[in-house]
Amino acid sequence: MSDADRPSPTRTIPFGQRGEVLVFSDAESLARAAAAAFADVVSAAVAARGLATVALSGGSTPRRMGELLAAEPYRSGIPWASIEVFWGDERWVALESDESNAGVAMRTFLGKVAVGPSRINPFPVELPDAALAANVYATRLRTVTGETDGPPVLDLVILGMGDDGHTASLFPGMAAIHEKESLVVAHHVPKLDATRLTLSPPVLNAGREIMFLVGGSAKADVLRDVLLGPEQPDDLPSQVIRPTSGRLRWLVDEAAAAKLCELSGG
Ligand code: 6PG
Repeated sequence: MSDADRPSPTRTIPFGQRGEVLVFSDAESLARAAAAAFADVVSAAVAARGLATVALSGGSTPRRMGELLAAEPYRSGIPWASIEVFWGDERWVALESDESNAGVAMRTFLGKVAVGPSRINPFPVELPDAALAANVYATRLRTVTGETDGPPVLDLVILGMGDDGHTASLFPGMAAIHEKESLVVAHHVPKLDATRLTLSPPVLNAGREIMFLVGGSAKADVLRDVLLGPEQPDDLPSQVIRPTSGRLRWLVDEAAAAKLCELSGG
């Protein structure tokens, strides 16, 4: 693996419980660093436990990472056959839709690497209703992780953040931000007038490695507020992400980190 495949951050800024921010020069370096981190985490999990469980994110920022993972050195360098793939959230649309997080990931990279088809776990959007799909997905998470009572522990949870501070499908003002019992929530998102399914905070926070991918100047204000502002998860749901015992890292580009740098002197 060359240095180009594994860019070094231009800055690393610790934010205590809110995680560590690694700033990369641009979107391409961010994607390359994310692909290298993905490879490191899943390879270590497979070496340690024989299996790696991953929750992918939707949105545009992770797409370039996916393209890189479907090419060398990752295509042959990652133990794909020992990875179980889940999603942190999903839109209530068919897999064939361009709006489908799972569908897009399967078409852009998962279909090009040696993940076992039975180990790709999209939300069951073919079911008659979203609440049922949420329950079925919760059962699948328990079956794969073997976790019978506490939140299932995933090896890697990848998240994005919207410019309104939402993450997964935890949008401002929604009750699911405070969900403590259900592993998976199906809810109608008024601001989108759409149904979404999302892993709940206890599951997201149980991740051994939680990795936000955040890029672009449109995210600079909200990233500053989430990391440096007062605790207000109802307005900034990304603040509800606090690892139970795992590690939280933010991989961001310079544009997204612009306002961070001003305040943190980083
Ligand atoms: C989704 C995502 C969502 C996403 C953010 C950021 O289904 O849309 O899971 O939480 O991560 O909206 O999206 P971008 O990366 O496109 O900015």
